[in-house]
Amino acid sequence: MSAPKKLFIKTYGCQMNVYDSERMAEALGGEGYVETKSPDDADMILLNTCHIREKAAEKVYSELGRFKGLKAEKPDLKIGVAGCVAQAEGQEIMRRQPLVDLVVGPQSYHRLPEMEAKAREGEKVLDTDFPEEDKFEKLKNRPKAKRGPTAFLTVQEGCDKFCAFCVVPYTRGAEVSRPADRILREAQDLVERGVREITLLGQNVNAYHGAGANGDMTLAQLIWELDKVDGLERIRFTTSHPNDMQDDLIEAHGTCAKLMPYLHLPVQAGSDKILKRMNRAHTAESYLRLIERIRAARPDILISGDFIVGFPEETEADFQATLDLVEEVKYGTAYSFKYSTRPGTPAAERPQVDPKEADDRLQRLQALLTKQQREVQDSMVGRDVTVLFEKAGRFPGQMVGKSDYLHAVHVADCDRAIGNLARVRILSSGANSLAGALID
Ligand code: 5AD
Ligand code: SF4
Repeated sequence: MSAPKKLFIKTYGCQMNVYDSERMAEALGGEGYVETKSPDDADMILLNTCHIREKAAEKVYSELGRFKGLKAEKPDLKIGVAGCVAQAEGQEIMRRQPLVDLVVGPQSYHRLPEMEAKAREGEKVLDTDFPEEDKFEKLKNRPKAKRGPTAFLTVQEGCDKFCAFCVVPYTRGAEVSRPADRILREAQDLVERGVREITLLGQNVNAYHGAGANGDMTLAQLIWELDKVDGLERIRFTTSHPNDMQDDLIEAHGTCAKLMPYLHLPVQAGSDKILKRMNRAHTAESYLRLIERIRAARPDILISGDFIVGFPEETEADFQATLDLVEEVKYGTAYSFKYSTRPGTPAAERPQVDPKEADDRLQRLQALLTKQQREVQDSMVGRDVTVLFEKAGRFPGQMVGKSDYLHAVHVADCDRAIGNLARVRILSSGANSLAGALID
């Protein structure tokens, strides 16, 4: 038997890319590839890229440049670019960086085995189609390997919202939901392989409307079906749009014990003028009222968000409105970004904010968000939470896991195995994690 070929995948960007990289590794696993942690001994290198901000996209080219020496030493090495930069730039990638053999967009991963075979024959291959078929169905020839206790599962992809700053509707395409039975089968399979917590993924996950036995299902209905899967202990989902936060999903946060008290609900900005220009189709007030309703259903829910500062024509007063909104919501965690011009999006044509001013705003917003995050984390001290253990800690006998609220928790003298859940009393709060002790 010939030695297995080695595959090195580097993943940039969001959790959906992490999921997609796993699927690509499985697809190429069927072609005799095993994963390696180092590009140096790889027969194939795949960069699974992100196009959301300029910096993310540029990283790809600098990374590719670094493989020049490797390819010179090893002419059989194949280099591929996958993900959203592949979708957005296509052929341009091979023109800018001739050492690339293969460019594959996010909707074509199921065609990777054929593409790899062509690349092996010396062809340059590109596929950035948006085919009709369900790529995940075609990617099923996976080995039944054991998995860690947490996993991502894509249920919805693409976006029809067209926020004025965002490339996702162009790179990931129109919103598509996977049928419920396929998701449930995949969830069952994950649980059989050791998974205890599943995070449902979608660029607009709460717009989910996949086919079910009796017509289209909502995300909440899908969650209730997953609730019935024995051995699955926790359900999360990300990322949601405020306008798709339907009543049954809010209610599920109060009534579904497996649905975790954590919600990532990006608002982007606090000024109605900017929200309108962002084409967000909600106001600061409607977002705040929505948060109130969610907290009425689940008072202890931890709210997370995304923010953009320095969007075209944002004034100091507009920015102040963002700070005011943050003060009101009190975020448990948040991601904040300086606006990055994306060619082809509507906002790219508009008058830009002075970059120094935008930097200054980002720092001020991050200072406030960090303070809130710390306060919310500190407020856990003295409380009892459930922890799902994910790995051993740095010290003998120590285990690390995540609480229901997604805080990292360290537990000393812990006799529980990876994949176990236990009640833990939180004793202290550190820079980025909590420490606690087993209760029983
Ligand atoms: N510039 C800065 N941040 C952006 N995001 C999306 N597009 C841009 C952009 N052009 C942010 C949004 C989104 C998150 C995934 O990335 O906050 O919610
Ligand atoms: Fe991008 Fe999210 Fe807006 Fe869709 S809803 S365009 S993914 S920011």
